[in-house]
Amino acid sequence: MMRWVNRLTQNGKFHPMWIVLAVVSVLIVASVVLIPSLHEGNKEAAYDPPVHTTPPHPAAANLPEPDAGQADAAPIAPATQPASFTPPAESAMPSGELGDTIKLGRNIFVNTQVYAKGLVGSGLNCVNCHLDAGRKADSAPLWAAYVMFPAYRDKNHKVNSFEDRLAGCFRFSMNGTAPEYNSKEMIALTSYSYWLAKGAPTGVELAGRGYPKLAKPPLAADVQRGASVYQANCALCHGPNGLGTQVNGSYAFPPLWGKDSYNAGAGMHSAKNAAAFIRVNMPLGKGNSLSVQQAWDVAAFVNSHERPVDPRAKQ
Ligand code: HEC
Ligand code: HEC
Repeated sequence: MMRWVNRLTQNGKFHPMWIVLAVVSVLIVASVVLIPSLHEGNKEAAYDPPVHTTPPHPAAANLPEPDAGQADAAPIAPATQPASFTPPAESAMPSGELGDTIKLGRNIFVNTQVYAKGLVGSGLNCVNCHLDAGRKADSAPLWAAYVMFPAYRDKNHKVNSFEDRLAGCFRFSMNGTAPEYNSKEMIALTSYSYWLAKGAPTGVELAGRGYPKLAKPPLAADVQRGASVYQANCALCHGPNGLGTQVNGSYAFPPLWGKDSYNAGAGMHSAKNAAAFIRVNMPLGKGNSLSVQQAWDVAAFVNSHERPVDPRAKQ
């Protein structure tokens, strides 16, 4: 080795400094490869086990609880089965009348602005918060929800049917009006959810339901820090002012606040839901890249802005 080095050095083709450079480069590459994977290992530890409590949102001090689906599942803890479930492939959708209804449900879910136009008061589609057409685990997937109803909810202090739960997201997340329970929209959304849950056990909380509970941040969430996180990681798509990005009159990137966003009674308006959703799913395609602290900070920043009022506050 040394002889080889000497020879190269004498040839004038080589300088011993190159070895130092080579070692440094190897170290840099190793740290780029290894540090994120170490980080990966820590990720599990960042999540608390699910605890069924809902911290009150400061802005909602005098209001009933925000629309937190997971937190209010039931006073009797459901059976928890850390099983993974895969909904049927899109191509396996049945044909015939039921198939058409399932397909309509999917269309309403993915393009609510077109297929349930009159019922929606925001610029959002259901899929904006329930990613991959309601299939993605850790993004409140429909298959995991469907098998958990009927359920008691603290939000309205009664046993809710699945239709009641859909109605909740229409009213708060979509800032709109719930479809009639025997309407084609309600039957279609229920049929689509039922079909996605095909083969899943009933009454079992499946892994991937809701948004994963995020560990508390090391420091109290801070709107100022959140503003920097926002500018660096979110503004590109959601716009520098958070109002989303429109293409031909519909949102390619949904608004995070303002008149076209979810209202103040929505689940996303609770810090814990927003932080958990953002941490796992945003920036789109780069989930889990923000730190726990950044997720809470940016969630606080997003929810510090003006948006439509909680419809319960008007009454
Ligand atoms: C690459 C573009 C992109 C980036 C960057 C991005 N988002 Fe999103 N975001 C989206 C899209 C697209 C959706 C809707 C997803 C869908 O419909 O499948 C979305 C949905 C959302 C939603 C739910 C819908 C709504 O309007 O409230 C929130 C909240 C959100 N993003 C927050 C953030 C935050 C916070 C960041 C920065 C940490 C961020 N996003 C970065 C593209 C992006
Ligand atoms: C602004 C974001 C947002 C939009 C838009 C939205 N939702 Fe939701 N949805 C939520 C949140 C937040 C929860 C509660 C998740 C949790 O607690 O883990 C939820 C919960 C649900 C649940 C219950 C999930 C469960 O496991 O119990 C269903 C079903 C649902 N939404 C359907 C819909 C439908 C249908 C639409 C469109 C009409 C819609 N959502 C639009 C944010 C949204």
